Amino acid sequence: MLRSTTTSLLASAKMLRQPLASTTTPFQARFRNAAAAASTSRLFSISASASSPPPPPQHYNNNGSTKTRHPRVLVTGSLGQLGSGLVKELRSMYGAENVVASDIRKAPEEFMANGPFVYADVMNYSALERIVVDWRIDWIVHYSALLSAVAEKNMAMALSVNMAGFQNMLELAKVHRLRIYSPSTIGAFGPSTPKDNTPDLTIMRPNTIYGITKLHNELMGEYYREKFGVDFRSARYPGILSADTPPGGGTTDYAVDIFHHAVRHGHYDCFLSKDTRLPMMYLSDCIKGTVEHLTYPTPLPQSVYNLAAVSFTPEELTKEIQKYLPHFTISYPDEARPDFRQAIADSWPATLDDSMARKDFGWKEEFGMENMVKLMLDKIQAQVAAEKKNATAAEAKNASMAA
Ligand SMILES: NC(=O)c1ccc[n+]([C@@H]2O[C@H](COP(=O)([O-])OP(=O)(O)OC[C@H]3O[C@@H](n4cnc5c(N)ncnc54)[C@H](O)[C@@H]3O)[C@@H](O)[C@H]2O)c1
Repeated sequence: MLRSTTTSLLASAKMLRQPLASTTTPFQARFRNAAAAASTSRLFSISASASSPPPPPQHYNNNGSTKTRHPRVLVTGSLGQLGSGLVKELRSMYGAENVVASDIRKAPEEFMANGPFVYADVMNYSALERIVVDWRIDWIVHYSALLSAVAEKNMAMALSVNMAGFQNMLELAKVHRLRIYSPSTIGAFGPSTPKDNTPDLTIMRPNTIYGITKLHNELMGEYYREKFGVDFRSARYPGILSADTPPGGGTTDYAVDIFHHAVRHGHYDCFLSKDTRLPMMYLSDCIKGTVEHLTYPTPLPQSVYNLAAVSFTPEELTKEIQKYLPHFTISYPDEARPDFRQAIADSWPATLDDSMARKDFGWKEEFGMENMVKLMLDKIQAQVAAEKKNATAAEAKNASMAA
C-alpha cells in the first residue's frame, strides 16, 4: 500500500517535471510555449538577481490589456514572522499602493503608515473576494497558517486555517485568474523520507497535522494548475531565522530564541536535543528567494521547489555563538523526557537538495552559518542597547518629574 501510494505520487510528480515533453491540455500547451520563451530570457531575467538587488519591477499586462502596470499583490498573514519583510520588499519594487497587506490582528502604527492594510480572515471567502475585486488584485501571497507546534496543539483550527483557508485562496485564484504563491515547508516530508539531501520528489508521508495540511495544499495547488491553469507557486521553506520579527510557533523556533537568550541571559534551555540537524535560512534570503520565485515571468517546470541555505544542530549553533559570547551556556532536555517538538523535528529532513530551484529560477542564498550568526547577534545586541537607553531616559524623566 505504502509502496503503491508512493510510486503513484512519484509518477505524478515526475510527470510534472516533463510538461515540455508530452502535454495535451490548453494550460500545458500554453505553459510549454511560455517555458520555452523563459529558457531564452532566463539569463537576463533571473540570474542577475541572484547576487544583489531584487529584479526590477515588472510591468504587468492583465487579460490582454494594452496598458501595462505593476501587479497588485494581496499578502495574507502579513503580520507574521515572514510577512512584514516581504510586504516591505514588494512595496519597494511595485509601490506601496500596489501591495495590500492583511491579517486578522491589529497592525502596529508604523505598519499602517507604510501602505494599505485590511482585515482579511482567510476563512471568509466572500470577504476575501471583495478585497480582490475592490483592490483589483493580480497576485496573492498566502502566508496565513498555523505553524507546526501550534498546529499540533490546535488540530481543528489548523485544519481550518491551513486547509480550508488555503482552499479559499486557491478558488479565488481560479475564479479571478490570479497568480498564487503559498509556501510549503520541510514539515511536508515525514519520517520515511530520506533524511539527507532530500530531493523535491521523494517519499512524503508526514505524521504531523502541519505537514499533512501543507502536503495537501501542495497537491491541491498542482491539481488546480493542471486542471484549471492556475499559476500556483510554492517553495518548501526550511526554518527561518530573523532578529526583528518573532517566530510564530514552529519547531525551528529554538534557532531564533537561542540568540535572544544568549545576549540577554547568557544561557538557553533548548527544547531539542543537541544533535538535531535541521535546514535553516536567514529571513532576507527567504524574502529574496520568494521574490525571485514569485516574479518569475512564466510558470516554472515544477509547482513546488525545495529552498535551502544551511543545516546545523543546536550544538553547532552554540559553538558558533560562543565565538562571540564565550560565556554562553546551553542545556538540553532529559533524553528520557523529550519535549513534544523533538518527535516533530525527528520526522523532518536534515539537509535538502534544492538544485532544481537553483537551476530553474536562479536561487542562491547570501547567508551561511557564520555571517548569519554574526548578523543575528549584532541586531539583538543593538536592540538590547536601545532598550537600556530608553529605560534610562524614562527613569531620568520620572526622577525629574518627582523632584
Ligand atoms: N517561519 C518559518 O520558519 C516557516 C518555515 C516554513 C514555512 N513557513 C510558512 O511560511 C508562511 C508564513 O509563516 P510565518 O512564520 O510568517 O507564520 P506566523 O505564524 O508568524 O504568521 C502567520 C500569520 O497568519 C495569521 N493568521 C492566522 N489565522 C488567520 C486567519 N484565519 N486569517 C488570516 N490570517 C490568519 C496570523 O495572525 C499571523 O500573523 C506560513 O505558510 C508557514 O507555514 C514558515
